Amino acid sequence: MKHFLSAKDIDSLEALLQMASALKKAPQKFKNAGEGKTLGLLFFNNSLRTRLSTQKAAFNLGLHCMTMNFGNEGWALEFEDGTIMDQGKAEHIKEAAQVVSQYCDIMGVRAFASMTDKQKDEAELVINGFKKYATIPVLNMESSTGHPLQALADMITISENSEKKRPKVVLSWAPHPKALPQAVANSFAEMMQLYKEVDFSITHPKGYELNPEITKNIPISHDQEEALKEADFVYVKNWSTYTPYGEVLSKDKNWMITPEKLGHAKFMHCLPVRRNVVVADSVLDSDQSLVIEQANNRTFAAQVVLQKMLENL
Ligand code: CP
Repeated sequence: MKHFLSAKDIDSLEALLQMASALKKAPQKFKNAGEGKTLGLLFFNNSLRTRLSTQKAAFNLGLHCMTMNFGNEGWALEFEDGTIMDQGKAEHIKEAAQVVSQYCDIMGVRAFASMTDKQKDEAELVINGFKKYATIPVLNMESSTGHPLQALADMITISENSEKKRPKVVLSWAPHPKALPQAVANSFAEMMQLYKEVDFSITHPKGYELNPEITKNIPISHDQEEALKEADFVYVKNWSTYTPYGEVLSKDKNWMITPEKLGHAKFMHCLPVRRNVVVADSVLDSDQSLVIEQANNRTFAAQVVLQKMLENL
């Protein structure tokens, strides 16, 4: 694996799941794999899980790790070509990416969607800019349109908790006061399509259709109660509209996940989550919630991906 930018960069999901399962029993088995190598983590947005789990994965592999928050520490970067840089941006991605490549062997980048300019968000200016100008591999730690490390951790969690050969998994939209990106939902949908041994569907209010190039022929329902019947796993996430872009059409509290709606299913969410807006306390605090397992699996998702990237250096 050279870069890890989306689920499309996974050759064999089954192989990664097996690697993750083995690593969980012996997290430091490959503690020399990254010896003498450095991982640089560049954050243009906040993080708790991604930052700490990726660092932990690096430590388990013997990688040195450097982290930088561009929001308040780095120079403001320009990503467009040919710009006259006489405004607030002090450094161009062309130099910045090559400079980071002098200090690191792999770089991770987190850069959320703007939610205001669909064209720029879809072009993935930040992560694709680093990929274009860096001379080292790039790891997606959540970009405008995807969060594949999260989706891989979610996949590990489902495979560990599934009691059926072909579980029913439902991705459900939930209300949220802010306009959030589609990245987590996109990558989860992509990962479910890679998994294949799953009965996967999506439920959301009308108007919240995700990018059809991602959802392809996944069944979609606007009736949440009906969609959740007999589900084994309910993955809950808010996202704003894809068309028109970045709008909050509904804050319908009836879409919040309650114990009645969840039934016997396991509850999943990538975190952070707003209690009693997205999901009721009684779900989040119950034994049916897998959110902490998902967060734990972020380390092993990052570790298998970094290990594959190291093999290719
Ligand atoms: N789920 C996730 O990516 O969490 P953070 O934003 O805290 O990294």
